[in-house]
Order: sequence, then C-alpha cells, then structure tokens
Amino acid sequence: MRKLLLIGFVATVVAIGSACNKEKVDTVVYSPVPLTVPVPAYVKNYVGELQSPAANPLTVDGVALGRKLFYEKMLSNTSTISCASCHKQESAFDDPFPFSKGTSGAIGNRNAMAVVNLAWNKRFFWDGRRNTLEGQAHDPVTNPIEMANTWPIVMLRLQFTRPYPDLFFKAFGTRTIDSTLVVRAIAQFERTLVSFDSRFDKYFYQGDSAALTVPEQRGLELFTGKAMCNNCHLMNTMFTDNMFRNNGLDINPADAGEMKFTGLATDKGKFKVPTLRNIAQTAPYMHDSRFATLEQVVDFYSSQVQQGSPNIDEHMPDFGTGLNLTSQERTDLVAFLKSLSDSSFLTNKAFSDPN
Ligand code: HEC
Ligand code: HEC
Repeated sequence: MRKLLLIGFVATVVAIGSACNKEKVDTVVYSPVPLTVPVPAYVKNYVGELQSPAANPLTVDGVALGRKLFYEKMLSNTSTISCASCHKQESAFDDPFPFSKGTSGAIGNRNAMAVVNLAWNKRFFWDGRRNTLEGQAHDPVTNPIEMANTWPIVMLRLQFTRPYPDLFFKAFGTRTIDSTLVVRAIAQFERTLVSFDSRFDKYFYQGDSAALTVPEQRGLELFTGKAMCNNCHLMNTMFTDNMFRNNGLDINPADAGEMKFTGLATDKGKFKVPTLRNIAQTAPYMHDSRFATLEQVVDFYSSQVQQGSPNIDEHMPDFGTGLNLTSQERTDLVAFLKSLSDSSFLTNKAFSDPN
C-alpha cells in the first residue's frame, strides 16, 4: 500500500515536472488544422467573410480549447463561475438575470450581452471600450464584480491541470500557458458562434415563402417600413449596424454609455446597437434591463421615446414620443422579432459544455 502511494507521488511529481518541460518527447503533435465556419453566401454578400486577426486564425484545436475555457470555472477566484455562467447557450449566450452575479454575489448595473455573430463586430461592451474579442476576454477574469481573479493565478491553475498543457500545445505549439493564449483560444471559440438559420432567413433569403406566418410577414414590412427599425438594426443579416447610438430612453441617462469610454459629452447616452437575432431568448432588454418583454420594447418605440434625450440619434423617427403604432401593428412587430430565433444555434452541441 505504502509502495503504491509512493509510486503515485513520484508519478505526480514527474507529471507536474513534465508539464513545464518543453524538451519532453511529444506524443502529442502540433499540426494546426484550419477551421472554416460555414457561413451562408447571402451573409458574405452583405457583410463579407468571417474575419479573424492574422495573429489568431481559427484552428480545430484552438476552437476546441477555447470552448473548454469558456466553460472553465477555474477562471474565477472561487472556481464557481465560468464565462458561460453569464453567457448561457439557451439564452443566445446572454444572461436571463437583469444584472449578472459575480463570484462575490455582487451585481453590476448593466445587462450581460449576447455572444452572436461577433466575428463581424469591431467594438465590444455596451460602451465599446474594447476593440477585439481577445481584448474583451481579458476583462471579466479580473473584474471584481465578475470573476474577481488574477491572471497569474489563472495561469498557475491551468498550467498544473491536465490536460491543459497538452491542449495548449495542440492549439498553439507551446505548453507554457499565458493570458494571451487563453484569450486567443476563447476568442476563436466565440467567432464560431454564428447564427443565420432562423425562420426569417428561410423566408427572406432561402426562398421558403411558408416559413413566416402572415402576421410575421406584416411585422417584417413594418420593421423595414413604417417602424424604421431597420435604420439601425440593419437587415443586412446582422440586425445591427455595429454603431453606438442613443435611442431616446431617458432625458437624463443614469449611465453615460459610450461617454464613459470616450469622455465626450457628444457620446452621452449612446450604447451599442445590439443584434436582434435570437432576441426572444435574450430578455430582459436594454443595457439596464429595464424592459422584461418584447411587447414593452415595442411599446417604448411606439409611445415612450424621449425626444429631449441628449444626443438622440438622427436615425430615430422624429414622431414626438414615438411611432404611434396600432395595437395590431405592435403585435405583428413582436411576432416578427420572435421569428429571428435560431433553434439550431441555441441547441448546437458544438457550442455546449464539453466537460
Ligand atoms: C458575472 C457575469 C459575467 C461573466 C462571468 C462574464 N461576462 Fe461577459 N458580459 C457580462 C456583462 C454584464 C457584459 C456587459 C458589460 C458592459 O458593457 O459593461 C458582458 C459583455 C461581454 C461581451 C461583449 C459583447 C458585445 O456584443 O459587445 C463579450 C464578448 C463577453 N461578455 C464575453 C465573455 C467572456 C469570454 C467571458 C469569460 C472570460 C465573460 N464574458 C464572462 C457579464 C459576464
Ligand atoms: C436610432 C437607432 C435605433 C432604431 C431606429 C431602433 N433601435 Fe432598437 N436599439 C438601439 C440601441 C442603441 C439599443 C440599445 C439601447 C440601450 O440599451 O441603451 C436598442 C435596443 C433594442 C432592443 C433591446 C436589445 C437587447 O439586447 O437588449 C430591441 C429589442 C430593439 N432595440 C428593437 C427595436 C425595434 C423593434 C425597433 C423599431 C421599432 C428599433 N429597435 C429601432 C437603436 C435603435
């Protein structure tokens, strides 16, 4: 018994030692295989190919590692929450809670954001303070109201947890784990989270005229027509123009939005125009989760717009307090918004917890 324990101990020390030993004779090989995400031709026609930075191309092993890390609770100080705790697949990688809880139980004052089609985005967070997905993924780990950890601790934990050293070797050709490689892997996985298979896509782009009901078709007409939602939530397959705008929620915005990042008074009250893909799954709505339902959102655009809001966007219809939609029009618009859900995205096993 004692001998077995000793052998166990020696084996552990050797394993830990070899995890750091780059000279080790490898049974695992580094031969990166490029990964191509299937993207429909109509999407590419509008918004181009899925983009990755030259320094971080998508590979099969990079994406697999990123997926594992996205669900890795060791990233948080108490090893209790992962990225996926606040970005849940069934909620289009958003959080159903108005304000996500960090490891300390503390909550912030902004709603989490969906992670959908972000490979085509250039600025991240409600105020746009990060300009790459790699940069974005650095922040939650050390944010005191989110994962409240330090990068040196994360790196130590991963370095001494099998099979991570081997997985990093397969993905990046090194067993020495650092924060740069962690965020690169996570960003690779996030870029694979594409959603273009809603009933709207089938109807509008794939020629299936039965894919939308008649009320949904009326809602689609309103979206691009009278209700002018398309001014900002572009129908160019993204349902956002990736800009930062003020849609007139408040006369005195409690959260300065983009101004918090740029310091410019002309950016006060501006927030990222969010995608509307899978919008039925991402309640509550707006940066501060003020609306619980899509009906409430549509009521806002119909009759509660604050024209006196600072920097209200020129793309907002200038109809006093809103569009004055009839009750039938509001119902139709909500029905259309719900047709933007993509059940294959919400249940795709390639995006789920691999652990
Ligand atoms: C405690 C909850 C929580 C955790 C954990 C968390 N996030 Fe978030 N995430 C948020 C909130 C809240 C925002 C919006 C914050 C803001 O705008 O200030 C956000 C924003 C984002 C965005 C921006 C999306 C966009 O459209 O601009 C991305 C991407 C993202 N998170 C990815 C991650 C990744 C990757 C991790 C893990 C490393 C992670 N998040 C961990 C709550 C969380
Ligand atoms: C001037 C540009 C603009 C127009 C026009 C516009 N929106 Fe928005 N929309 C935004 C911005 C900006 C936000 C985020 C605001 C915030 O959180 O402070 C938003 C948020 C939303 C949200 C909440 C998304 C989320 O993830 O929380 C929904 C739903 C929405 N809009 C639907 C619509 C509909 C329906 C219309 C047409 C009636 C419309 N929008 C017209 C800019 C616009």
